[in-house]
This record gives sequence, C-alpha cells and structure tokens, in this order.
Amino acid sequence: MPAELVCFEPGCRTRFAVTEVIYNCPRCGGLLETDYPEWRSDAEQVKAVWRARRTCNMPLDQSGVWRYREIIPFVENLDSVISLREGNTPLLAAPKAAAYGGLDRLVFKHQGFNPTGSFKDNGMTCGVAQARRLGIDRVACVSTGNTSASMAAYAAAGGLEAFIFIPHGNISFGKLAQALEYGARTFQVQANFDQILALVRVLAERLGIYLLNSINPFRIEGQKTIVVEMLDQRDWSVPDWIVLPGGNLGNTSAFGKALRELKQWGFIQKVPRLAVVQADGAAPFFDLYHAAQRDRLNAVAHPETLATAIKIGDPVSWPKALKEVSESLGAVERVSEQEIADAKAVIGKSGIGCEPASAATLAGIRKLTATGIIRHDADVVAVLTGNLLKDPEYIYRYHTGQLEAPDGNAIQSTFCNRPVVVPNDPEKIAALL
Ligand code: F0G
Repeated sequence: MPAELVCFEPGCRTRFAVTEVIYNCPRCGGLLETDYPEWRSDAEQVKAVWRARRTCNMPLDQSGVWRYREIIPFVENLDSVISLREGNTPLLAAPKAAAYGGLDRLVFKHQGFNPTGSFKDNGMTCGVAQARRLGIDRVACVSTGNTSASMAAYAAAGGLEAFIFIPHGNISFGKLAQALEYGARTFQVQANFDQILALVRVLAERLGIYLLNSINPFRIEGQKTIVVEMLDQRDWSVPDWIVLPGGNLGNTSAFGKALRELKQWGFIQKVPRLAVVQADGAAPFFDLYHAAQRDRLNAVAHPETLATAIKIGDPVSWPKALKEVSESLGAVERVSEQEIADAKAVIGKSGIGCEPASAATLAGIRKLTATGIIRHDADVVAVLTGNLLKDPEYIYRYHTGQLEAPDGNAIQSTFCNRPVVVPNDPEKIAALL
C-alpha cells in the first residue's frame, strides 16, 4: 500500500515520498499529512479481521494501534515497530458525570489506561516506527509532559537516544519522573512550550535528530486509532459527538482525519461532530473559531492554566483542526480553572479519575448542554486523555482547599474530600465513623 506525504494547504497539495525527513511542506510551509491514494479494501472484511485479532497473542495484534494496521499503512516492514501494547483503552459509562454534564448518558474513552498513562502512546509507537524505518537513532520533542514521557518509553524500548525539552517548572512531577526513569536526556528550558518548540525545530534540523512532536504526521496516524478502536468497541455505531481537550491540536487533527478516511473508505456512513475544549487562559483556538474571519490564529503570548498539559498559546496544528472541526459541524468551548477542577472531582467521584486537562471535556460538555449546542439526549463520547496519577499534587491541593488559579485566586473545593488526621485511638476514630 504506497503511502505519500501531502501538503495540507488546499492551494498547494504538493506530494512527497514518505521517506523524506520533513515536518512542513518545503514549498509553502504548510502542515503535512500522510495519504494513501490507492487504499482499496472491503471495509466489512477488514472490520472482521480487526475483531478476530483481539483473540490473537501476536504482539502486534495485541496492540490497540497495530491491530488496526490497515488504516495506518505507512510502513511496509512491521519489523521497525516497537509496541508496549498501547491502546486497548476502555469505554466507561459514567452516569454521575453524565448528570453533572447535563446529559442522559455519557461514556468516557479513557486513554489514561495506556502504558505511559496518556493518549500519546497511540501516536508515539508510530512516530518511533518511522524513526527506525528511516534509520535515525536520535529523537527529540518539546512537551508539556505526556509526549516526553511517552517518547522516552518508546525510545528506550527501541534502543533510540531520546532528548526531551520541557518548560522549567511547568510540568507535573509525575510526567517529569517518567522521562527520567525511562532514561531520556532531559532539558528544563526557561521558556514556554511554544518558544521551546521553535528552538527544538532548529536543533533537530541542525543535528539530524528526528522530531517527534505532533507536527510529525506519523504520530497523527497512530492517534487516529483512538477513534477506530472506539468505533470497533461500539460495534461501529457512530456517536453524535466526540469531545476532547485541545492544546497543540494534534489529537483533534488525528480524530478528524480518521473520521474522514473511515467515511471515504466505507467503514461508517456519517461522522460524529467534534467538540474541542480549551482552558480560558490558553484558548487561541476558541478565539479563532468564534472570530468573524477564521483565516489566522492569534497566538496567546503567555498562556496560563493549571491544566499544564494544554498550556499552549500557539498551537501548530490549528489549520488541520479548524478544517476538521468545521467540516464535522462541531464546536469549540472554553472553560475556567474552577470549572475544570470541579469537573475533574466529579470524574474522580465516578470511580474513573483523570488529569486536569482531560477534565476540560466534562466542564465543556456542561456548558455546551446548557446552551443547547449538545442536546441532553445526545450520544456523547468524551476522551479522557491522561491518567489521574499524572498530577497528584493538583488533587491534594484541591481536596485540602489549597488550589490556586494562576492569577492567584483561590479555587473553591466544591467537592472537597479532606483527609482527617486522627490519633491512634479506636474510640476517637469510631466516633468519627
Ligand atoms: N490532554 C493531555 C493529557 C495532553 O497531554 C495533551 C497534550 C492534550 C490533552 C492536548 O492534546 O496537543 O493534541 O491538542 N499534551 C502535549 C504534550 C502537548 O506535550 O504532552 P493536543
């Protein structure tokens, strides 16, 4: 199945070999995506093969990414693949969260069940496969923490050298700890995510290091399988809405591409609407989507949010995300720090839990149902992007009344569950129970 890279800009669409080491179109600077012009298969047969692979013990069939390899056929030789059994993440019904969000029912696709605890693993297994296929043994990324944790793990497993650049003091310890433990060379840069991305792009080019940020089109391929697996788990019943948080907007781009291709190739007859939720202090895509002219994104120079995973002011993938969200007749919402914190506690009280950025989904749903954009009886899947344990400090502060927004305002612990210090005395403890 020949794969090509194609410029995403409608006025350019120049094509390049899939083996070229490029991240933007050399002609016009546009974003790149993979394309499979000769893709032809019987969708129903492919669905049956995918289902049968679930019972197979072959490592690639056990991966919730490579099980769906017909939809991401960019490597000819699967020997370059490193799998940590990524994907395979559950759909979890969450009635309490549904009620809070103003919905009759709500299902979470919980990407925090991935090997390094976030959806980045779906994409990273593909990005690392491409690096190995190209014969490049040094990889780099800038990250708000999850991409770096994931890249460090896959690079270590695949024998690649990993260089990680993170905004100093602005990622959670859980994520930083992962990068260190997986053995990546880690640089804490005194700059924000957007500034560091520009820096890393220069370094990668100068030193011949392969860049594994979500601008890398092969990572986007892997993240498509989040949607494919979700539809497979739903026996191909298409939801009305898919809701996800937006940072650099790679995931939004991946979901849109997956749905476009699945429709074009006959797997589904209609596409769900995409709703993207951003934090108030880092919401340039919200501003763009609601502007009179949607032709240029105005970057937020100093993004601020406690949901550090989505603390991004200048999202590189905005042109792709804009097309995908508008063509799906979707929506873009923004939510406050208080709304994220409370939604997160509700997801926790549902026995599910997630990291702050992921909770933006439920906070956004609550607003979108209040305004009638999402109907209360809609069939909604929200994607929880990261595991609860990624950022325990945030949780401890919330439940002990110590969480402060970046502007210094206290966040109310609406659903507070304060730990109680007690003496070693059964009588006194019994009195409290
Ligand atoms: N949720 C989590 C938990 C994330 O880590 C990220 C992005 C997003 C949502 C937003 O996804 O960028 O595709 O729109 N984290 C990146 C990182 C930026 O470096 O780990 P997006």
